[in-house]
Amino acid sequence: MKNENASFFEKLWRDYISITPDAKPIHDLIGQHGIVTNDHIAFRTFNKSPIALADFTTFLKNFGYKVAGNYTFVDKHLLSHHYEHESDPTQPKIFVSELVLEDCSEKLQKFCLSLLKHAQKIELPFCPWPKISYKDYQWLMAESEFAAWVSAFGLRANHFTVLVNALYAGSIKNIEQLNHLLTSQGFILNDKGGEVKGTVEEGLKQSSTMAKEITWEFADGTHPILSCYYEFAERFPGKQGSLYQGFITQSADKIFESTYRY
Ligand code: NI
Repeated sequence: MKNENASFFEKLWRDYISITPDAKPIHDLIGQHGIVTNDHIAFRTFNKSPIALADFTTFLKNFGYKVAGNYTFVDKHLLSHHYEHESDPTQPKIFVSELVLEDCSEKLQKFCLSLLKHAQKIELPFCPWPKISYKDYQWLMAESEFAAWVSAFGLRANHFTVLVNALYAGSIKNIEQLNHLLTSQGFILNDKGGEVKGTVEEGLKQSSTMAKEITWEFADGTHPILSCYYEFAERFPGKQGSLYQGFITQSADKIFESTYRY
């Protein structure tokens, strides 16, 4: 199972770095300062079968994962789970969010349901539907950046996350130092709501790069669009003394916006 998971995560990583220009350079830069350990991988989907959140729960069970937390993002019309491995805490957590289509406009619902007709089952990384047009991407963006992202990219890692705690043995002692290293090398961090989201008291501090533009192929030609970001997480002991393993809704809400165009 461990080898199976490793090759699954490796496949997701290869796909992710192929569409995230900052990811590999940052991974290599941090690798000079310590061992890069993955805190979590995040996915985005729609709330309709066969690729809804509940379907992810079944899919991830095959890799030894169970639901460990529930989150609601009211303004973004999202529901999320975080998953933890049942027996091996060294495996990365997985964070999956679904867009509640009933909360969106009729036009958006109709469009996303037409894509979902092509979806047979969860496959990662994979885009289950034909390329959308850039015209559709643009009006989707105006209503829901999340819907536009999933429609354009399909099911693939939206971000990987470096666990800062795993770097303590080297020269990086906290997330602020890591952020400083990244910005000093010219990487742009998401500073909406501050570069660091969350507090020691909450058990989790997070930061992330802003997604960069890539050239993406649409049904009607190639266009520059924003793809994925890289995230950084530092975890702190909770009430029981062990490191907090959950997520903070308010922080995640801001991190989602790392794929927004400002
Ligand atoms: Ni995340």
